[in-house]
Amino acid sequence: MAMATSAAATAALSCLLRAGKRSCLPSARWGCLSSARLSSGVSSYGQRGSGARSLRGNYRELWERAAREPGPFWGALAREALLWDTPHHTDCEWDFAQGRVRWFLGGRLNVAVNCLDQHAQCSPDRVALIWEKDEPGTEERITYRELLEMTCRLANTLKKNGIKKGDRVALYMPVSPLAVAAMLACARIGAVHTVVFAGFSGESLAGRINDSECKAVITCNQGLRGGRVIELKKTVDEAVESCPSVKCVFVAQRTSNKIHLGSRDIPLEEEMAKEASVCAPEIMDSEDMLFMLYTSGSTGKPKGIVHTQAGYLLYSAFTHKHVFDYKQDDVFGCVADIGWITGHSYVVYGPLCNGGTTVLFESTPIYPDPGRYWETVQRLRINQFYCAPTALRLLLKYGDEYVKKYDRSSLTTLGSVGEPINHEAWQWFYDVVGEGRCTLVDTWWQTETGGICIAPRPSEKGAEIVPAIAMRPFYGITPVLMDENGKMIDGNDVSGALCIAKPWPGIARTIYGDHQRFIEAYFKAYPGYYFTGDGAHRTEEGYYQITGRMDDVLNISGHRLGTAEIEDVMDEHPAVPETAVIGYPHEIKGEAAFAFIVVRDDTPYPEMVTKEVRAIVASKIAKYAVPDHVLVVKRLPKTRSGKIMRRLLRRIVTGNVSDLGDITTLDDPSVITEIIDTYENYKAKNSTLK
Ligand code: WTA
Repeated sequence: MAMATSAAATAALSCLLRAGKRSCLPSARWGCLSSARLSSGVSSYGQRGSGARSLRGNYRELWERAAREPGPFWGALAREALLWDTPHHTDCEWDFAQGRVRWFLGGRLNVAVNCLDQHAQCSPDRVALIWEKDEPGTEERITYRELLEMTCRLANTLKKNGIKKGDRVALYMPVSPLAVAAMLACARIGAVHTVVFAGFSGESLAGRINDSECKAVITCNQGLRGGRVIELKKTVDEAVESCPSVKCVFVAQRTSNKIHLGSRDIPLEEEMAKEASVCAPEIMDSEDMLFMLYTSGSTGKPKGIVHTQAGYLLYSAFTHKHVFDYKQDDVFGCVADIGWITGHSYVVYGPLCNGGTTVLFESTPIYPDPGRYWETVQRLRINQFYCAPTALRLLLKYGDEYVKKYDRSSLTTLGSVGEPINHEAWQWFYDVVGEGRCTLVDTWWQTETGGICIAPRPSEKGAEIVPAIAMRPFYGITPVLMDENGKMIDGNDVSGALCIAKPWPGIARTIYGDHQRFIEAYFKAYPGYYFTGDGAHRTEEGYYQITGRMDDVLNISGHRLGTAEIEDVMDEHPAVPETAVIGYPHEIKGEAAFAFIVVRDDTPYPEMVTKEVRAIVASKIAKYAVPDHVLVVKRLPKTRSGKIMRRLLRRIVTGNVSDLGDITTLDDPSVITEIIDTYENYKAKNSTLK
């Protein structure tokens, strides 16, 4: 598609905004959808205080309609809820066998216009972002007008430096208004952002930059987290040394510390100040790429999951509104980092598309003390609070006082995401944090699903919420469970592989540069279905409970990590011919990594090797990926065909040695007693493994 000329784009924008004027408040637009498009039964759906009327039928009815005919359901929503340059002509085309899904074909729009311009025009002084900086009490508020201007200046700076539609731009930044502006500036000019969590190592960053052939990197001189300085620019410098595609590095100043700028570095704020505060939006096709985000799979190489424009935006905004019951003027507090999908969908795109006020949380749950979340809730008057179970497990250990001393009366909805939430954490969140009066939603979804797929809400007000399970599929989500033979399991009180039968607008479109891998990872195991990689149980009542990953992917503190990814980097140690990493339950992190390594016989100090492989993992992936335990063993259990039987290692670490399952394919059964002995010796000396 040709780049729109400035005049044409400006005309298109004013046309978009004229269209938006009709009903420029998003809640009015969603409301308009309810009554106009989805029949009378839905008209009061989602309104606060409408509990007198049973909405249960409405949830069911809507869910069934969306499941039966996802195209018309989402097509109507898309027309009403988004601002279009050109409306779409075809709701959806899909063919799961080819891993092909397209939504809103023929439609043209700009995501940044949807997230900014329309709100800046209607309510310029409404607060878009509350930046909860690392130091408590130093928050900054950014209005929609300010965020639009910041985004336009940044977009113009990118353009001036040769960034065009379709170019990839890596972001390696702390959670901050500039990071949000950078994402939206890319969206405005049609560039594709790939945010890399600022805790990843230089080598991980380089791998992602090279895979996506980024033309530019946007970073900060330093980051601040939990009172500690993080040398972001140094890491970027290390990374880009091996990234030939990178032409420039934009450097923002998060701290006052001056750093040396090299020949390809551009001081971001200085350059932005020279640029105009308006920037004509690039008009994009619904299915043009919006962003990619790397996530771990069961092989060593992270996958660049691709999301496109309209479907992703609609799905993140609609789920944000309806799962959390977000109302105009509420303060939405999702404390995820923008480096993960949760930060994309529920810190940035969903809330901003809805004209909401969204909190950017830069700090940690325990800085300066374990009351930080709740002190922030009190100070910012947060209405919806969304966090990870791992943080709750950590905080509940510090006792209730840190919670109770702060006023949480503003809270209405609590949410958890990223990993299974255990009963204790759920109950503590509900009783202590929410004082037993807030709706608590355990939300299940994935980087690949774009937004929440299973959660207790929406459903009618007051509908039962079963503790610690995700429960109800969102509109248009059609979960099915499969048995080992690939057959669908009917009925309730059953467990199986969790698949989804029909497409929804938020589903990822491909893996960047490797569509075949996309098909193999998600559409091969159960032909005709999207396979999530998770197992689930359908309860007697028909609710869904996620039981965990079925592949070799760990979930450490809510972050996905492939065991193969860790093994691959540990194998790089010259004295380590073989490794096997498994996950085991961990009190705080949910899951932790345990590494078994074989060290060459001629290695003088095997103990040193365990330290060295840890350092390798930290420098090649990230600190959070370092296994909690690294145990040297003589051999690994293998099948006769040479495959490592990680299942057996898992049983040993979780204390299930009496039930090792089928070991007939094991090459040499004596390896088992050998490893058990080594493990028991290690355990006896290690108090954290009791
Ligand atoms: C897990 C995070 C149980 C699951 C949004 C999934 C969950 C993976 C839940 C995706 C939940 C996420 N209950 N497990 N509520 N939410 N998961 O891509 O294994 O970082 O496949 O997306 O996290 O992780 P990702």
